[in-house]
Amino acid sequence: MTTSSPLSSGPTSGNAAADATSGDHPRARITVPALATMRAERRRISMVTAYDVTFARLVDRGGVDIILVGDSVGMVVQGEANTIPVDLDEMEYHVRLVARAGTHAMVVGDLPFGSYQVSPQQAVESSVRLMKAGAQAVKLEGGVAMAETIAAITRVDIPVMGHIGLTPQSYHRMGGHRVQGRKNGFEAGSRERLLEDAHAVEQAGAFSVVLEGIPLDLAADITQKLSIPTIGIGAGNHCDGQVLVLHDLLGLSDHTFKFAKAYADLRGVVVAATQQYVADVRDGAWPDDAHSFH
Ligand code: KIV
Repeated sequence: MTTSSPLSSGPTSGNAAADATSGDHPRARITVPALATMRAERRRISMVTAYDVTFARLVDRGGVDIILVGDSVGMVVQGEANTIPVDLDEMEYHVRLVARAGTHAMVVGDLPFGSYQVSPQQAVESSVRLMKAGAQAVKLEGGVAMAETIAAITRVDIPVMGHIGLTPQSYHRMGGHRVQGRKNGFEAGSRERLLEDAHAVEQAGAFSVVLEGIPLDLAADITQKLSIPTIGIGAGNHCDGQVLVLHDLLGLSDHTFKFAKAYADLRGVVVAATQQYVADVRDGAWPDDAHSFH
């Protein structure tokens, strides 16, 4: 947990990246106002998903600004084909694990499918549960159709991160995980509609918005027109920040995606370490005397 004073100027003071990686200097906890400052100062925001305390601590040490406890947990941890089966109890559990890490990074809890679409009241109640589990903000998918819901959540002072474009919870409407915003028009997922969605999310009071799976020129246009930070995934390099799913970033996923980059090959590391352990057990090299009690 940060030791900085409540009056400190947040991550704008000092060299946040150096502080984050050295691990020796206190780093201010990232807050909603700090993110607005980062955008104003044109400093890009980094977000990554995490679902447990171990990885939350590690990515925090790596200097990430926001940890998203994403409903992508359904795919990368639970082995589901999409995020639709994930429920609120599961998200609450994973938010609690990540919050226990006491990170400098802001913790955002994802509202899963079915936990906010029924009514604004349901959305507020679900958001309260994630906040009580330790989130500093919640994220939900949808634009114009979710404006009233976003307004209801922000009215009770729960910060909301929007999410438009390729919204994974719209899997069945989209016919899979498909890039959006390539067609002109006002139908769901079309270019002009996504501009409307972005404005609606901002007007409703969201403090930032994820732009997922849209052409980079559209993401640039939205970023230029909005005053809240945009955080892209599969949306090019003109957003105010970027997000990756942890398993993609670390090379733990089974698949590779055009929009994701593996910054490490942890699959290879895990398989090699396990093979060595299995070999040592089989030939009696493990445990050796140094790891045995006398
Ligand atoms: O659940 C998730 O991981 C997400 C990101 C891809 C933005 O929503």
